[in-house]
Amino acid sequence: MECAISFQNLHKTYAGHVEALKGLSLDVQRGEFMGLLGLNGAGKTTSINVIAGLVRPTSGSVLVNGFDAIKQYRLAHAQVGIAPQEEVLDSSFLNVMQILVYQAGYFGIAPREATKRADALLQEFGLWEKRKSNVVELSGGMKRRLILAKALIHDPPILILDEPTAGVDVALRHHIWERMTALNKAGKTILLTTHYLEEAEQLCKRIAILHNGGLVATGSPHELITKILPDQLEIRTDPLLKAIPEGLDKFSPHLDEDCLCLQGSLSDPQVMNALVSLVQHSYKIISVEQKRARLEDVFLQLTSTDKTRYP
Ligand SMILES: Nc1ncnc2c1ncn2[C@@H]1O[C@H](COP(=O)(O)OP(=O)(O)OP(=O)(O)O)[C@@H](O)[C@H]1O
Ligand SMILES: [Mg+2]
Repeated sequence: MECAISFQNLHKTYAGHVEALKGLSLDVQRGEFMGLLGLNGAGKTTSINVIAGLVRPTSGSVLVNGFDAIKQYRLAHAQVGIAPQEEVLDSSFLNVMQILVYQAGYFGIAPREATKRADALLQEFGLWEKRKSNVVELSGGMKRRLILAKALIHDPPILILDEPTAGVDVALRHHIWERMTALNKAGKTILLTTHYLEEAEQLCKRIAILHNGGLVATGSPHELITKILPDQLEIRTDPLLKAIPEGLDKFSPHLDEDCLCLQGSLSDPQVMNALVSLVQHSYKIISVEQKRARLEDVFLQLTSTDKTRYP
């Protein structure tokens, strides 16, 4: 089956020689909820803007449901609703309602149907009262709501949301989470960028971490955590251990000031055997603490090569 989004060896060098993308290849499968994470300047928006038709890649391509985002722009664009990180909403002559109806028209949706959809979206996103307002009369969070409504108006199978929860209030953030989850359950593919790693950990089935214009890791949050920062066990004994017990080599053991540290899980029978053996050698087990890394720890580890960022 075709991928929903396929970035194929995408390069982008902006004028001024900024190499924003250095050969990004990434497939987002249909129905996936994928998080695209990376530090500021990693290249997330650049890759999304190629799909939006705002950035022309230096080389490589992006397919959207099989359509080339550059060569088959209209066909590719109809497949996807994009909520950009920064959108200049046309505020000169259209009010909020008209912006949505106009956007729907761009995708061939007749005015009557477009108005029905716009009504529903404006109510859902708490913009009904502002339907006749000009964009300049909206607050920052309200503009973000309008951008989301605009991305949804043509009911596309793929949604790309570039930091949709940045700068929105808590209630709306929860609503966006629920809505994204429901849309994904209903079969829509979602590509989300966010700097809130807890949000990504909770929502995304798969995460792609971008660093300096290239992919450094992909996997489910659980896979990334267990592969890159496995569980750590801290075992405290009385008396303190003076040497590492035998048979634990595969758990990369080391002795800390007051505990024995192992990379492993309590559910591993070999770890349990080691504990039993300690007891048999007259050590009292005072505590066993299982430390599980968070996605944030993994993210920081994978993107920490640039030590000059925050000295
Ligand atoms: N129009 C542009 N002209 C020149 N350089 C640009 C342009 N847009 C982005 N860049 C540069 O490309 C790199 C990637 O930027 P991009 O906006 O894709 O990052 P990002 O991952 O979306 O970051 P953020 O988390 O801050 O949104 C940065 O070094 C940025 O300065
Ligand atoms: Mg960005």
